[in-house]
Amino acid sequence: MAFDLVLFGGTGDLTWRKLMPALFQAWRHGKLPAGGRILAVARDERSDEAYRAYIREKFAGVDEAKQPTDEEYAQFAQLLHYRRMDLSTPGDYQGLKAWLDARGAETVVLFLATSPHLFPVIVGQLGQAGLNGPHVRVVLEKPLGHDLASAQQINQVVRAAFREEQALRIDHYLGKPAVQNLMALRFGNALFEPLWRRESIASIQITLAESIGVGSRGDFYDRTGALRDMIQNHALQLLTMIAMEPPSTADADAIRDEKLKVLRSLKPFTPETVGRDVVRGQYKAGTVGGQPVAGYLEELKVPAGSTTETFVAMRTEVQNWRWAGVPFYLRTGKRLAARDAQIVVNFREVPHPIFPGTRRANQLVIKLQPEDGLELHLLAAKGGGASLNGHEALSPVSLDLDFDKAFATDRVGGYERLLLDAIAGRLNLFVRSDEQEQAWRWVEPILHAWRQDTVGPRHYVAGSWGPAAASALVARDGCTWAEEQ
Ligand code: BG6
Repeated sequence: MAFDLVLFGGTGDLTWRKLMPALFQAWRHGKLPAGGRILAVARDERSDEAYRAYIREKFAGVDEAKQPTDEEYAQFAQLLHYRRMDLSTPGDYQGLKAWLDARGAETVVLFLATSPHLFPVIVGQLGQAGLNGPHVRVVLEKPLGHDLASAQQINQVVRAAFREEQALRIDHYLGKPAVQNLMALRFGNALFEPLWRRESIASIQITLAESIGVGSRGDFYDRTGALRDMIQNHALQLLTMIAMEPPSTADADAIRDEKLKVLRSLKPFTPETVGRDVVRGQYKAGTVGGQPVAGYLEELKVPAGSTTETFVAMRTEVQNWRWAGVPFYLRTGKRLAARDAQIVVNFREVPHPIFPGTRRANQLVIKLQPEDGLELHLLAAKGGGASLNGHEALSPVSLDLDFDKAFATDRVGGYERLLLDAIAGRLNLFVRSDEQEQAWRWVEPILHAWRQDTVGPRHYVAGSWGPAAASALVARDGCTWAEEQ
């Protein structure tokens, strides 16, 4: 299948840090369809050769195992082309169209890897230039808006030029193999589904912890904060996959309809419940991995006295028959003790315990990163003989599945998967506009309540697990976070 992939923002960060390495891996794995061209567009003048040399240099910063050899790069670089464009000049889009039409590839993917404030301009111009035919798809990177109104505005512009199934909104968490495994776990196995409900599950925790700080992105981050950066998209997408009803087919819309229902069932926040059920924090100087690190307010380009949150923990509920009353806790933060993304499903305790000693409920831990796997925590008799009262106390044991090890050679990275899906027109792992808007609708009361709140975020020491209030939040329901057990 011949394809043309156009990267707007072709010299930018996202292109060389994520997209080019992913495209190279796809090519190296033999997964990139033959007959493809990758066209980078940006503002400055350069030749194809100069662009290829520029990207070659940037590969030096990629993990060693993912760097091309000279021979490999010489071949891969043949796919790369470059074109100067001024994104507000209609004639430049006509030029692009002529370049694409001259070959007439079956599929054209237009990837907007620019700053999001340019999306409306680019999408509008693409429509006017007729670069929106049925064989064209447009890929939009987050952040898509900063609240419901701005997201709706972007979607309106996109809808004016493209049909919904032509617009692919990326949430790169959906490309992670562990997230796809979550679907496989729930809907490819009969084992868990009968237990996947309030009668057997006591609570669910989703943690997306990072040990990095905001780095050089202080200005962007300060306008964004953890709620918009991680919860509105990544954490809520994970929650929908955990809580959704089984879709009738594996088609994109069947899945997205079910995810949307979950988003619509989330308990709405009021100013009172934001105060009670949402904890926001901001890191102070501390130590991460043995190294002293600055506090958020000392980071580059962060304005003095900023009250932007770098940590959020919250409790919510999915208000339907399956999940009524089951707390869902979401937590994310920068400069936490570890990089650790996982979902913990806490099952209920046995209704009538007959063994002495530990009374520990079963737990399923879905590990997203740094490891990708599953742990099932059970209780077992060690076989060490009876204790005083005639029964052996049970001991915790776990079944541990390491997907990285099991499937090492077949693994495909997040962006690689999403780029290949965009080219092939598989929409399952992209976010539909109504999902995205509903997620904004749900987080907006939190943003609103914080604007009225004069207290600001609670402080936590870099390298810790966030403010103590986050532990108190779960302790109210008799729970603890995974690292506190
Ligand atoms: C991005 C956020 O969407 O996800 C970043 O903007 C964050 O702030 C990143 O660091 C985390 O992604 P990953 O794949 O490293 O967990």
